Amino acid sequence: MTTATFAKGLEGIVASETEMSYIDGEQGVLEYVGISIGDLAKHSTFEETVFLLWNKRLPSKSELAHFEEELQKRYELPSGMEQRICSLPKTAEPMHVIRTMVSALAMHDPSPNDNDVESARAKALNILGYAPTIVAYFDRYRRGLELVHPDKSLTFSENFLYMLNGEKPTPAMAKAFDLCMITHADHGLNNSTFAARVIISTLSDVYSAITGAVGSLRGPLHGGANEGVMKMLNEIDSVADVENYVTQKLAKKDRIMGFGHRVYKAKDPRATDLQKLAKQLAEDTGKADLYAKSHKIEEIMEREVASKGIYPNVDFYSATTYHCIGLELDLFTPMFALSRIAGWSGHIIEQLSDNRLFRPKAQYVGPHDAPYTPMSER
Ligand code: SDX
Repeated sequence: MTTATFAKGLEGIVASETEMSYIDGEQGVLEYVGISIGDLAKHSTFEETVFLLWNKRLPSKSELAHFEEELQKRYELPSGMEQRICSLPKTAEPMHVIRTMVSALAMHDPSPNDNDVESARAKALNILGYAPTIVAYFDRYRRGLELVHPDKSLTFSENFLYMLNGEKPTPAMAKAFDLCMITHADHGLNNSTFAARVIISTLSDVYSAITGAVGSLRGPLHGGANEGVMKMLNEIDSVADVENYVTQKLAKKDRIMGFGHRVYKAKDPRATDLQKLAKQLAEDTGKADLYAKSHKIEEIMEREVASKGIYPNVDFYSATTYHCIGLELDLFTPMFALSRIAGWSGHIIEQLSDNRLFRPKAQYVGPHDAPYTPMSER
């Protein structure tokens, strides 16, 4: 019997193959199907990026138009879902709402358990189209506002901001949000993607796999970090207070949210793209102090812990970006989820195309040959 090596947290273990994201953690490189994230952020759209991830190539003009149209058809929720959302406690956490409503979508699908690749793609498109509407409907309902129904003539990003705010976004805001969607879409075998692959590997259904992934993403060590970054920025009164705040936290071995990564030991290239956006948006929206605090934190962390390979990750500057776009703090991680549905779905399709049930081992470290002590003697 081969003695397997124990890798806590599966650190360094290759558990899947993928044709979607290539990550070089030492060099700080991220490519989607070979195209650098910087080029995609500059030239692509979220819809085009999703097509790329799911089809492993860029679409032709007519293919993209068709894909956009198919997605727009899925902005409107199945009947009955609106009532479900508007019966939830208004104090519910949006990530719990997404997890619950994605799970509920299975009950509105006539064949929820079909998981041949074509059915999986169709369900993935449904969830990708419905999810922004779920978030926007819940947010307006909890604020006591009229729901704004989707506008199928708008892009994914334009439509989400329209449903959320009740007015069409400026081209700059729509573009900023779209860049966030592009940069968060996929990232190899991160925890939530692994969760999705583990669940679908039992040949369970797409809704269960995406529901499990949402549950993983909300954790503060993963997608929940962007909300933690914003809470940190709110705790620091001014740039002058950053030095003390950061050094005291580090002295207590506290984690600075938005920094560090299991794979990147250089600056996350997505942080670089989002940093430029955060700087521009902060200046445009009169929140330059927010960016200044973020940049000062990065300077201090560079001096204190860069030597340990701790740099900003995707969550650090996405917080300032989402805040300047006008999103509520507890909608930050839901934004990560909206985008990552693309990556989770791509991995679900890859897993179904070449499946092997995930079943690692646990190393037993308990006792042996223990007696069964009768209750009278315990
Ligand atoms: C995402 O996997 C992905 O790809 C995820 C993601 C994606 O796109 O899906 O990129 C998105 O989840 C980004 C990460 C968001 N999380 C955070 O920002 C939370 C704060 N970061 C950390 O908790 C931590 O960096 C992790 C969880 C992200 C990674 O941690 P590891 O690989 O388990 O590293 P570790 O906990 O073993 O830490 C190694 C050392 C420790 O110091 P020592 O005990 O060796 O002295 O680095 C220190 C840690 O204390 N450290 C930090 C730190 N992160 C690690 N110290 C201060 N602040 C931090 N943020």
